[in-house]
Amino acid sequence: MRSQSDRYKIRRGRESDVDQIARLQAAVQLQAATGGEPHAGISAWAQDLLTGHPSVVPDDFLVVEETATGRLAASLVGLRQEWSLAGIWLPVVQVELVGTAPEHRGNRLTERLLAALHDRCATDRVPLQIIEGIPHFYRRFGYDYALANGGAPTMPANALPDLEASRPDVYRGLLTVRPATAADADGLANVDRRQADGDALVCPRNPVVWRYEIMGRRAADIARREIAVLLRGEDVQGFLVHGSGLSAAGELTVFAATCEPGAHWPEAAAAMYAHLGRVGRRHATTTQRPFHAVRPLLDADHPLARIGPRGIPARPGAWYARTGDPIELLARLAPLLRNRWQAADLRWPEPTLVIDTYTASAHLHFADGELTTVTAKRSAVGASVDGNPHAAIPPGALLHLTIGHRTLPEVLDTWPDAAVRDGLTEQFLTAAFPRVPPRIWPRN
Ligand SMILES: CC(C)(COP(=O)(O)OP(=O)(O)OC[C@H]1O[C@@H](n2cnc3c(N)ncnc32)[C@H](O)[C@@H]1OP(=O)(O)O)[C@@H](O)C(=O)NCCC(=O)NCCS
Repeated sequence: MRSQSDRYKIRRGRESDVDQIARLQAAVQLQAATGGEPHAGISAWAQDLLTGHPSVVPDDFLVVEETATGRLAASLVGLRQEWSLAGIWLPVVQVELVGTAPEHRGNRLTERLLAALHDRCATDRVPLQIIEGIPHFYRRFGYDYALANGGAPTMPANALPDLEASRPDVYRGLLTVRPATAADADGLANVDRRQADGDALVCPRNPVVWRYEIMGRRAADIARREIAVLLRGEDVQGFLVHGSGLSAAGELTVFAATCEPGAHWPEAAAAMYAHLGRVGRRHATTTQRPFHAVRPLLDADHPLARIGPRGIPARPGAWYARTGDPIELLARLAPLLRNRWQAADLRWPEPTLVIDTYTASAHLHFADGELTTVTAKRSAVGASVDGNPHAAIPPGALLHLTIGHRTLPEVLDTWPDAAVRDGLTEQFLTAAFPRVPPRIWPRN
């Protein structure tokens, strides 16, 4: 009898897999929307990812091949990208297009694919993986909801300003919004580069990737967005990224919005909402379907949400996130922690601050009160490795803290097994881990 392990083989994707992967994924994703028919948008996206995408290569796919037939039974893709967390560059893999052909389900193929992907991330020193998908399912594989997604109010279409009709004199000539062209790619990348040095968690794009977003994708690609630039005269001062059509609910989704300097947001928001209104009405006319609302997939604190018309409150969702090594993630943040403690005028009085994660401990080393390095101490036996740590923070909670999803008081409230030894440690760790605004439009 064949064992499961030789019935299937896991391997990296190849250029020659494009048709099979596109067919498999189109047949399994979003089937409720197609009534069981292949999804043309998924097929186009898979083809775009496998041919000519600026940051994805076939090798980023992992596939399960049925040994006897050589046919693909399941696949996923790990989209490599670099995010900036308040100025610290962070390699990230976004998992997408997870699917198993119906006749091969029941064999835990996603579990095996993710195990292979996680091994690969560990080898490549990619400390963070994210995925958006089936509620609860990815908890099985070590993922947790640790990155806010959405939460900004929905704007009913009739609440959007109509600048042309009502106040043509106020905005014309100052800030304008128009669809981007390939010639805007350099300006957009410059905005992104500056945003990467800010306080938020962002996913910057270089000019090649911006050009691809503007004009590189197949028209049917479900991940295709429309890009608009925010201009002051001829200068690119920001961008607005929205859906390329209305959803079944008549909503136009906003995926990203940026304006610099921040002081221009009141004007920028008015111009952006007016643009969204124009786009929504245009889609309604061409598709003969109603345009009900703009749905910003932005955090509730995003300036576009705070400054815009009062909308209908939305409950924030979340991305799943996972790290194979929370201490490595923490170590990458060392320069940021040093800056945050300097800004708060805090100097650690001992040579080391020890955070026990129950499976390993992080040793933060200080010279003259300033952080120098972070090292890990691991134990082969027993759970705890340090007798008297300054803090105990379970690995999952440390992930929430490091990526700025939860603050220390929230962690102490939520995780009974999180604890700090004294008030000084609490003060240090509170200053080290403020909430970081998630301003992520991932690269896919
Ligand atoms: C989700 C999917 C990839 C899982 O396939 P798989 O890894 O081969 O999983 P299996 O069929 O072996 O199921 C493994 C376990 O996951 C559970 N599971 C499978 N699909 C699930 C779903 N949609 N929701 C919740 N649990 C699910 C199974 O019940 C099983 O649980 P058990 O171990 O307690 O018996 C597959 O069902 C699929 O392709 N679905 C359609 C596409 C899709 O939804 N992809 C995910 C997009 S985020």
